Amino acid sequence: MTSGGLMNGGGSSVSAAKISLRLQYYVLLAAVAAVLVVACLKYMPAAAAVAAVGGYGTAFVGAGQVAVAGRAAGDACSDDRTAARSPVVIFNFGDSNSDTGGMAAAKGLNINLPEGRTYFRRPTGRLSDGRLVIDFICESLNTPHLSPYLKALGSDFRNGVNFAIGGSTATPGGSPFSLDVQLHQFLYFRTRSFELLHKGERTPIDHEGFRNAIYAIDIGHNDLSAYLHLPYDQVLAKIPSIIAPIKFSIETLYAHGARKFWIHGTGALGCLPQKLSIPRDDDSDLDANGCLTTYNAVAKAFNGKLSESCGLLRNRMADATIVFTDLFAIKYDLVANHTRYGIEKPLMACCGNGGPPYNYNHFKMCMSGEMQLCDIDARFINWDGVHLTEVANSIIASKLLTGDYSKPRIRIASLVNSTKPHHDG
Ligand SMILES: *[C@@H]1O[C@H](CO)[C@@H](O)[C@H](O)[C@H]1NC(C)=O
Ligand SMILES: *[C@@H]1O[C@H](CO)[C@@H](O)[C@H](O)[C@H]1NC(C)=O
Repeated sequence: MTSGGLMNGGGSSVSAAKISLRLQYYVLLAAVAAVLVVACLKYMPAAAAVAAVGGYGTAFVGAGQVAVAGRAAGDACSDDRTAARSPVVIFNFGDSNSDTGGMAAAKGLNINLPEGRTYFRRPTGRLSDGRLVIDFICESLNTPHLSPYLKALGSDFRNGVNFAIGGSTATPGGSPFSLDVQLHQFLYFRTRSFELLHKGERTPIDHEGFRNAIYAIDIGHNDLSAYLHLPYDQVLAKIPSIIAPIKFSIETLYAHGARKFWIHGTGALGCLPQKLSIPRDDDSDLDANGCLTTYNAVAKAFNGKLSESCGLLRNRMADATIVFTDLFAIKYDLVANHTRYGIEKPLMACCGNGGPPYNYNHFKMCMSGEMQLCDIDARFINWDGVHLTEVANSIIASKLLTGDYSKPRIRIASLVNSTKPHHDG
């Protein structure tokens, strides 16, 4: 599965299916993913591998054939904003979990329905049926959804910039838009803004905007995923190399005036249909909720280390606020207590192939011609085997916004107007 020339979706079903296959390549992660794909292939029955090749020629489900939500829904990105400078500025760095259209813009990918089918009722480049956690965060701060840095048309950077790109790794060189590249894009954007301001021109974000901005980082999931096929101890040994570039980014941003940091940990990797559908010898690794114990232990270890690094930085950067939020606890609760949230099948992808228990097939993914799609009203946690649904993201965001899962216990809203550093409370 190598990446050839860029397909730009001429509208034919063949190219659409190719893009879908290409997409899974980017979704997982770029270069590092190849390792995992090869590892998965080893376990793939020959028939499945043949089906994958056959998939190139199968009809693609076009926009008209996919049900979209009936209710009217506005895109908060629309033009109903005032000319005044936004009091809220967020610079976000990450992967598909917070990519609001960057990968689609950067790669020229046609991300089609059913992506975006619920809230936006059209594909937006997000890998979900609706909004992402970052979208709900923006809404809670009464600010529009973030525009992707690389989206040339219709972007508005007055309330910040989203540098997140699907498939990105924290590890430099692990993907085309790894965290170091996103960081340099930010530094370029900042330098360019200051240049223009110096000439007396207007920029979307002024000096005060950069100084007061919230710098959000949500990355590392793809790095971890690429190592999960290794023995547990070896995966644990890789964690510091994933944390180091995140730590370096915080330090670099701080050196360039950033003082408010919002850092997300990783989720319950062992509860993702994509991971659960990897063939296993027996179910001895499954916990009481049907999730993979070892993968979740890796996720918890990563979060522990990231939280620890944030703590060390907090001690060194006394005039900064560095908030770490443990998304594992929130996402695992969603699975464990799913009935309380009105969710029936917590471990099954809404959009995939193969039906229960996981509805996931690496070679017949969401957006491919053979996808099996859940009912639009069905409450699923998982969207495509890897990414979560609008329903799940809204529940996660509501918990995240309480501040109860954050260290120190701070609500993101309280960061917006704060001028003094926060301390543990
Ligand atoms: C499930 O909910 C109960 C009650 O709120 C809570 O005590 C428990 O920790 C939750 N389980 C998980 C795994 O989060
Ligand atoms: C921040 O301050 C502005 C101006 O005083 C106010 O309109 C806004 O609601 C505040 N935002 C938050 C999240 O508190």
